[in-house]
Amino acid sequence: MKKFKRYLVTSALPYANGPVHIGHLAGVYIPSDIYVRYLRLRGEDVISVCGSDEHGVPITIKARQEGVSPQDIVDKYHNIIKDSFKRLGMSFDIYSRTTSPVHHKTASDFFRTLYDKGEFIEKTTMQYYDEEAGQFLADRYIVGTCPHCQNDRAYGDQCEKCGSTLSPIDLINPRSAITGSVPVMKETTHWFLPLDKHEAFLRRWILEGHKEWKVNVYGQCKSWLDLGLQPRAVSRDLDWGIPVPVEGAEGKVLYVWFDAPIGYISATKELTPDWEKYWKDEETKMVHFIGKDNIVFHCIVFPSMLRAHGGYILPENVPANEFLNLEGEKISTSRNWAVWLHEYLDEFPGKEDVLRYVLCANAPETKDNDFTWRDFQARNNNELVAVLGNFVNRALVLTHKYYAGRVPECGTLTDYDRDILSELPTIKKSLEEDIENFRFREALKEAMNIARLGNKYLADTEPWKVYKTDPERVKTILNVALQITASIAIGIEPFMPFTAEKILKLLQVDHFGWDRLGDTDLLAAGHEIGTPVLLFEKIEDSTIEAQLKKLADTKKANMAKEAGHKIEPQKESIVFDDFNRMDIRSATILAAEKIAKTKKLLKLTIDTGIDKRTIVSGIAEYYTPESLVGRQVLVLINLEPRELKGVLSEGMILMAQDPSGKMVLLSPVDKVGNGTMIG
Ligand code: 2FM
Ligand code: ZN
Repeated sequence: MKKFKRYLVTSALPYANGPVHIGHLAGVYIPSDIYVRYLRLRGEDVISVCGSDEHGVPITIKARQEGVSPQDIVDKYHNIIKDSFKRLGMSFDIYSRTTSPVHHKTASDFFRTLYDKGEFIEKTTMQYYDEEAGQFLADRYIVGTCPHCQNDRAYGDQCEKCGSTLSPIDLINPRSAITGSVPVMKETTHWFLPLDKHEAFLRRWILEGHKEWKVNVYGQCKSWLDLGLQPRAVSRDLDWGIPVPVEGAEGKVLYVWFDAPIGYISATKELTPDWEKYWKDEETKMVHFIGKDNIVFHCIVFPSMLRAHGGYILPENVPANEFLNLEGEKISTSRNWAVWLHEYLDEFPGKEDVLRYVLCANAPETKDNDFTWRDFQARNNNELVAVLGNFVNRALVLTHKYYAGRVPECGTLTDYDRDILSELPTIKKSLEEDIENFRFREALKEAMNIARLGNKYLADTEPWKVYKTDPERVKTILNVALQITASIAIGIEPFMPFTAEKILKLLQVDHFGWDRLGDTDLLAAGHEIGTPVLLFEKIEDSTIEAQLKKLADTKKANMAKEAGHKIEPQKESIVFDDFNRMDIRSATILAAEKIAKTKKLLKLTIDTGIDKRTIVSGIAEYYTPESLVGRQVLVLINLEPRELKGVLSEGMILMAQDPSGKMVLLSPVDKVGNGTMIG
């Protein structure tokens, strides 16, 4: 395997149109942070770059929804995302943003170089245009029915239900996401990157040269390449983004997927004047951490851009994860079906590593996976508390109990001690292989195996019993247990940096390098350790139930919202005379009483201005009889009388039904005399 001099690790730039959720974390950011922390511990030259993706239609749509400017949106979410990443212990060397001046210049120059080299084709095509909004409809500005799965809320660039990549003309019944109107076709000119020109190279580079890439990544690349690549537009008609740096391109900006990956270059430039060695030297290993919906852009489009430009290296690997679901359902920002990082951090202070642990242990590395709050609780209670926390606590407490908190001397090791200690280098090797091959779930299991080994050692050697008969032997046992504890601090650092730090603090030692994992002289005899505190605490059922209730409330709110949006289609036309035959009057409720043995019915006595009559109405679930007396309502008085539960009802009180099914009375806005005709 080629040995690299340095590493450049990039993590997909999250769109600054919303906060980050657990799906983003499990898919991209936790794996990337584990990888870079590991490389740093090994003493490698590594930089980790990320930042907010602040252009594109998702941002402008959010701005419209919130009635603010796109800049307001990106400022708000960039800060939320940046802050929450920091609190979770994400160790980016830089977290930048694509509205930065350095990025604007870098992306603009990049485009211009390709333009000057003749790497684009300029094409005039027909595109959807919203006449009401006076705007072309790019990507998410156009919605319609997906031709593959019939989802009627598919976007012009993608169907979120079946995951297909779409182009606006694929949509059935397209409509504008801005005004809801049916768009027309209008001519527009754009620049296209001819991916077909790079196809032969990409086939060689990926299909022959990178057979080691993850199966999901390699497979997706192969299907794209087998289908044959087409030129792809790299500009859009939009007023938010980086202007196309070509004369006569007013009103056109770079396509967000053209500028966003260049954001990795801009962020590196902002980080160090020495940025070129990370981007232009073949001895740099570049790794892109992304989610599966970004594969084509990082494996096919961006490498074609870099190659067309010239002088840049290409990624050595693109470890994309699949998707994480939440409680069996797809995570959705628009439906608020997510566990938001900033909310988790507020609601679970001090439990950053618990989330890091659970999301890594359950990461969707090879297939989509599910996050459940019960699993979160079980992993915390049965693994972090019972295995890791328990071992470290026992080793420290016993040292305090028998040796006043000083590391005891290591006497002669027994064969059993040696067997146990000899497992450490084996675990270390597996851990390294797993991390280097992006198998982080397995790697985490290996790291936890060090604590399992420690627990087994204490359970088998029983120092609490032996102390009574052979205190000398216990010195060796606890020395071994403490050396294992120090190795745990090394092994778990990439996954749970806060816990590693806590253990080191408890042991009153500085960071060790990765290579010292498994050493048996990490702690010198006589060294004083700190007072034990618990590393993890049990998560109670009530905490989990509160989170489940929060999700149940979200579901209810979504259902009400969706029901509210389901406006019944207009009924058949009627002539005025049809309407005129209905005699609707204002009337006042004089008396109201429940009809026995029914849940819904009330018997109302009303003054119609013409007479006093009885009407039976099905509103008992929504109004108490007392609250109705004296209210003015609208009544259809010439509806044929009919008997309900033995009471003759002579008319109908007019009602509206709200999204949750609740019936609401209608009243004249200003009081009018009873018997006033409505029409
Ligand atoms: O899918 C996304 O969230 C994109 N904002 C990722 C961009 S990655 C890179 F190219 F910047
Ligand atoms: Zn679909």
